[in-house]
Amino acid sequence: MSVTDVPVLAIDDLVIDIGGNRIVDHVSLSLGSGRILAIVGESGCGKSLTALSVLGLLPKAARITGGEIRLNGRDLLPLGEAALSDIRGNEATIIFQEPVASLNPLMRVGEQVEEALRLHRGLSANAARGEAIAMMARVGIPDASRRARQYPFELSGGMCQRIMIAAALICRPALLIADEPTTALDVTIQAQILELMRDLRGDVGSAIVLITHDMGVVADLADDVCVMYGGRIVESGPVEPIFAAPRHPYTKLLLATIPTLQGQRKMTLRTIEGMVPSAESWPDGCRFRTRCPLADEACVATPPLADVGPGHAAACWHSADVEALA
Ligand SMILES: Nc1ncnc2c1ncn2[C@@H]1O[C@H](COP(=O)(O)OP(=O)(O)O)[C@@H](O)[C@H]1O
Ligand SMILES: [Mg+2]
Repeated sequence: MSVTDVPVLAIDDLVIDIGGNRIVDHVSLSLGSGRILAIVGESGCGKSLTALSVLGLLPKAARITGGEIRLNGRDLLPLGEAALSDIRGNEATIIFQEPVASLNPLMRVGEQVEEALRLHRGLSANAARGEAIAMMARVGIPDASRRARQYPFELSGGMCQRIMIAAALICRPALLIADEPTTALDVTIQAQILELMRDLRGDVGSAIVLITHDMGVVADLADDVCVMYGGRIVESGPVEPIFAAPRHPYTKLLLATIPTLQGQRKMTLRTIEGMVPSAESWPDGCRFRTRCPLADEACVATPPLADVGPGHAAACWHSADVEALA
């Protein structure tokens, strides 16, 4: 295998337990340079824990009990905190849903953008300042040198998210994880931030893991998609075939929640037959079967994630019947 074949991120058979519950159950995914992979699913499906595990940021209660995570070929799970903190903000970064809460309220935003350059690249404050202001301008912050001296409370939510993105990209990380980066923002700002991310992947060349519950965002931005339900990947593959012909009923139902051009949704997330059960009450076998219109006695056994097309896999005993599903 040549160096260019090594994925930026490769998660292989990852298992995360909390208490007695298997919260992330044998998840595998991989992502090449400059690609955008969306992880999509309703709240509580294990998207954030999968992402946090990459950066060594899991909550204390969570245990990784199996699998492997590689960043540019390097095995991350055996690394200690010192090595991981060297990677965070440098080789791999994460931005969260709540930009205002993620920023330090007592520190000027420009300093927060510079921080990674000083920490990881050893730049002086002066040298870092110029680069930080250039990156702030690049992510669409008008009058960046004046803004750099302001505190988070002086900026709007959308501007704070741009600051987070600038801080995340300042070291040109190989991997950017964006965990629902637009969920807390209003619709117009959401669209601007997504457009910005689309532009930046070309410039900076980072591979992006984009976590979302919104299939519309996936359609706009992603190359590949992993649909998660109950801690498992239930469908994965390139965006086009999955949108054209989903092979898992959950994916098909998620797609029906995208607004049409007329602004109407066929259904909302809440109307996919109830809510995601909590981890203690996930059923045996297929975890979606308690909400699935196709479920029958076969689904008491766990369906394997099986190939259904080129690079496209689905975990459903009835994947051939999904197309006919209304
Ligand atoms: N700190 C925690 N302690 C206990 N359970 C947790 C904790 N964080 C997450 N969980 C459980 O793990 C599941 C997956 O969480 P998460 O990865 O945050 O889901 P998502 O990002 O898809 O909404 C949730 O159902 C939640 O009950
Ligand atoms: Mg989450």
